[in-house]
Amino acid sequence: MTKTRKTPADLRSANWLAGESMRAFSHRGRLRQLGFSPDDFDGRPVIGILNTWSDLNTCHGHFPERVQQIKRGVYQAGGFPVEMPAITLGEIMMKPTTMLYRNLLAMEAEELIRSYPVDGAVLMGGCDKTTPSLIMGATSAGLPAIYLPAGPMLRGFWNGETLGSGTDHWKYYAEYRAGNIESGVVDEVLAGASRSAGTCMTMGTAATMMSLAETLGMTLPGASSIPAADSNHGVMAAATGRRIVEMVWEDLVPADILTQAAFDNAITVDMAIGGSTNAIIHLVAMAGRAGVDVPLSRFDEISRRTPWLANTRPSGAYLMEDFYYAGGLRALMRQLDDLLDGSAPTVAGTPIGESWTDAVLHNDDVIRTRDNPLGPDGGTVVLTGSLAPDGAVIKQTAADPSLLRHTGPAVVFADRADLDARIDDPDLDVTADSVLVLQNAGPVGAPGMPEWGQLPIPKKLLEAGVRDMVRISDARMSGTSYGTCVLHVAPEAHVGGPLALVQDGDMVTLDVAERKLDLEVDAAELEARRSAWAPRKQIPERGYVSMYAAHVTQANRGCDFDFLHAGAPIPEPEIF
Ligand code: FES
Repeated sequence: MTKTRKTPADLRSANWLAGESMRAFSHRGRLRQLGFSPDDFDGRPVIGILNTWSDLNTCHGHFPERVQQIKRGVYQAGGFPVEMPAITLGEIMMKPTTMLYRNLLAMEAEELIRSYPVDGAVLMGGCDKTTPSLIMGATSAGLPAIYLPAGPMLRGFWNGETLGSGTDHWKYYAEYRAGNIESGVVDEVLAGASRSAGTCMTMGTAATMMSLAETLGMTLPGASSIPAADSNHGVMAAATGRRIVEMVWEDLVPADILTQAAFDNAITVDMAIGGSTNAIIHLVAMAGRAGVDVPLSRFDEISRRTPWLANTRPSGAYLMEDFYYAGGLRALMRQLDDLLDGSAPTVAGTPIGESWTDAVLHNDDVIRTRDNPLGPDGGTVVLTGSLAPDGAVIKQTAADPSLLRHTGPAVVFADRADLDARIDDPDLDVTADSVLVLQNAGPVGAPGMPEWGQLPIPKKLLEAGVRDMVRISDARMSGTSYGTCVLHVAPEAHVGGPLALVQDGDMVTLDVAERKLDLEVDAAELEARRSAWAPRKQIPERGYVSMYAAHVTQANRGCDFDFLHAGAPIPEPEIF
């Protein structure tokens, strides 16, 4: 549907700033406190820049400079930029998990945009949950919005070796626990892996979600792959500022962009990049805000037809800086053009297919060609079975291939505290064939579904040289992690899913090729266990956590709040 181009009189902000009501006089007058007169904003789109900067978000350190570059672009295009700080979700420092607060930032973004005189929004995120949060909130707000990804940090170095954030931390920490290196080496590795502002530079959750935001059409072409410290990132920030002003005049809103085709494109790219398992939860939640149905089965359908092409850690060898030099996301999408819908619209005002027509592949080891993929199908696989009736996921590309079909006896940990207390106990009855099971780490039970799903290998097995085992939980796993980790088991243990009924010694079967996860216990025995079962943990009755636990959906539905899914529009605020 062709939309009528807006005029200054149509601007939403005119309801606050134009006319001769008492409030309009007041709004214009009080802006003088900030040094603005009507010359600054009369007839100009007001662009809210949602900035998730904080001294405690280690990945957004360059945002103060980027805000100025966005503002420059907005001014150049005839808009009036206003910076609007929003709660940041710094993956490293925020506890118990940023996932607990993804929906809070989404709510804040939606209400910030709705409650202020904003005509369009620039969304500044990057660190893991900030990307889905901001896009979810802006989608619900329904005004023109464009996303500026923070970009990955520079690749790490230590002792002549390139280092990937998260991935190499886990690797060296395992060697430390095995007694092979000193603690000082771990410190040096972490220092070498933290070289600049920007997100983790492996294909973790941040790089995955930034790539998917571009694939969905919510960024300018090429935006997601530029390293944070590269001067081209600042250039992209200014271009983003210019573009949002034009989007306001065009009335180009997220609902125009986030279509079924856009989500299918995003799932396809997710599979080809060996993306983070977290992307599944976030894409389902983002689709829910846009009124698009994305069942878990869609991921599996697309996974089966999509080759794995991005040779990036934790699944592959390279880092995001290499991915950028190899041609970035546009070059990868070009490899997939027969699997993608090139007609899907983008914030640029052009179809997504135009973004890759002139993309050049500079290194076909980093971004593989279709005739030389790293694997024939996608990175992430959806499992179902008697242990996960509503689904579970595994990143098969980050697992030991010999464990992708495995049956073994369960060693069960009732929660994270139990895991920490017993995992290194020399008397723990565990072998390399055991299946480690963690209960009560899901959306409600933890709460917040923390990234505890890469259960540590028991120390005595580490010392014996074991580096991977089958691990199963209702938790998530960092996108930078690796291992044969079955995650997002739904329903979770806390709400009485079969995971809650697993006991030590039960045989568990994982069969990735068959997409199966089964608990080999007969139904009568499970029924007896169920009648004796009760939730392990009391959820607090006050505060944000109580609201979270009451309304968060299970992993297969995206862990959004049930009252935030797409529905009837919320009225504009009354202005008196
Ligand atoms: Fe921010 Fe990894 S900690 S992206």
